[in-house]
Amino acid sequence: MDLSTTYLGLRLPHPLMPGASPLADSLDSVKRLEDAGAAAVVLRSLFEEQITREQQGLVYHMEVTAASSAEALSYFPGADDFAFGPAEYLEQIRRIKAAVNLPLIASLNGTTSEGWLSYAKSMQDAGADALELNVYFIATDPKETGAHVEQRTVDILKAVKKGITIPVAVKLSPFFSSVSHIAHQLDDAGADGLVLFNRFYQPDIDVEALEAVPSLHLSDSSELLLRLHWLAILCGQVKASLAATGGVHTGVDAVKALMAGASAVQVVSRLLEDGPQRLLTIYQGMKHWMEEHDYESLDQMRGSMSLRKTPDPAAFERGNYMKVLRSWKANV
Ligand SMILES: Cc1cc2nc3c(=O)[nH]c(=O)nc-3n(C[C@H](O)[C@H](O)[C@H](O)COP(=O)(O)O)c2cc1C
Repeated sequence: MDLSTTYLGLRLPHPLMPGASPLADSLDSVKRLEDAGAAAVVLRSLFEEQITREQQGLVYHMEVTAASSAEALSYFPGADDFAFGPAEYLEQIRRIKAAVNLPLIASLNGTTSEGWLSYAKSMQDAGADALELNVYFIATDPKETGAHVEQRTVDILKAVKKGITIPVAVKLSPFFSSVSHIAHQLDDAGADGLVLFNRFYQPDIDVEALEAVPSLHLSDSSELLLRLHWLAILCGQVKASLAATGGVHTGVDAVKALMAGASAVQVVSRLLEDGPQRLLTIYQGMKHWMEEHDYESLDQMRGSMSLRKTPDPAAFERGNYMKVLRSWKANV
């Protein structure tokens, strides 16, 4: 069974890897991921705010006024709250590359195309094989248009691509008016991969303490459905290779992501709960399912459930929407 895949131009023995998270914070954990057969490792993100703080003594980018900057400062974690400072992050890349024989994908996380992006080159020089770019930005300014929000992401990608030669993936949010449009723009701007999707961390409200309560709950397989939806739509529409992140917990979840069009499948929550060795179980589940269903290769399966041959995907989607609403009536 040939499970090999090409993601970001990297030839990998199979598509499964840990996603950006604390899973690669220690060398011990990275070695356990290697033992579990991980095809690559994605590091947690280094944040723009960490880099600008170091480069300029600022927590937020240069456009903010002095007054808002003082308040903005209180929103952010302190330097000591991060697992790695900028220099330590580079050291971690070097240590992992020296310790294991796996492709390493570093992650940069920020919202402006300013000086901090020079760190992409430092990551490349430290030995990163590819870079994941996470633009986690919630558009709150009513004067900022959707087009401008998209352009910001494209500009960041272009600035990064200008400075480095390793491949770059963009980890996208599902909350664009047109995911297809932003995906195409990023494709045209040279994105080597698109990672679907960033999770949107939604704080709850503590009504007694009158506080917003940030909550980090781990995913379950139901979160995969949104990813399958857009993988299936984008597969064949863009040159960039696609990765699924969010809701992959079993081998069959991975099979679904691949059928929808993913070339790589990232797992975080399941591995945080059960430990790195769980990746091997997911791998075995995926392989077993494919053998049972007489697949000879991953290429044969990838994209088989995508909409690339559907003449009018929008009509298909709308038809399914109407059918699903009707199905409830049929059941009562
Ligand atoms: C504890 C934790 C830390 C994470 N840190 C990062 C990060 O630094 N950068 C990033 O892009 N995503 C980060 N993520 C998001 C994961 O990479 C992944 O996209 C998300 O958890 C969905 O995948 P899952 O359903 O397999 O957990 C983090 C997730 C968790 C749970």
